Amino acid sequence: MDQRNGGPKERGLLKGVSIFADLDAPAVAALERLADVREFPDGGVVVSQEDTGDALFVLVRGKVKVVLYGDSGREIILSIFKTPGDFFGEMSLLDNEPRSATVIAAEPSRLMVLSRRDFQAHIESHPRTALRVLTELSRRLRRADAVIGNLALLDVYGRLAGKLRELAAAEGEETDDGIVLRQRPTQAEIAAMIGTSRETVSRALSDLARRGHVVVTGKRLVLRRDFIAGDER
Ligand code: CMP
Repeated sequence: MDQRNGGPKERGLLKGVSIFADLDAPAVAALERLADVREFPDGGVVVSQEDTGDALFVLVRGKVKVVLYGDSGREIILSIFKTPGDFFGEMSLLDNEPRSATVIAAEPSRLMVLSRRDFQAHIESHPRTALRVLTELSRRLRRADAVIGNLALLDVYGRLAGKLRELAAAEGEETDDGIVLRQRPTQAEIAAMIGTSRETVSRALSDLARRGHVVVTGKRLVLRRDFIAGDER
């Protein structure tokens, strides 16, 4: 159910969002007053590819995935947002084209929603937010370039190794055993991120585990140091 102007949990959230980091407290408070809060169940569609873009979204809690669907219904995951303050939906607001991808809640999620009109008015009066958006778009384009390169140049093992190292760098914790991912993506999610089947990911992960490069226990995955350094072959 929609809930306007969320309670204390949402207050201050926009300050943690990279594109709003330069704003003073009154400007943040003004934006937060304009924002709605919406809840999505696991599997709920937040935006659909080809729809008109009418809002910017900021993750308050939960996890969403940015996906494309092939004609056969096969899913490709372009990105996963799970850090509170992650934002999406900016592209169609900036270029006035339809939504570039579908965004789906991958667990029950709470999102702040800022209308196109309020976002555009804000950008016009706060150029530093626009610069921050450009910085974030460059970062995402770099990541997309790396993914394109990996898809074209590496086999499935190379792509899986690259994805695991990327996850380790982004969210891994250093331990004596190696780098730990406490909430690894599912095999189906990894498959959709590296353009292969779940069965192939399952086989490749078992192979890496048998060779002692990774240890998988439920949602927890440990990457050994030799593997992080790239000496797994
Ligand atoms: P928009 O096109 O409005 O709606 C879909 C959103 O998904 C898009 O804005 C971006 O916020 C996000 N998105 C699309 N492609 C990528 C990508 N390659 N990496 C990260 N986010 C993306």
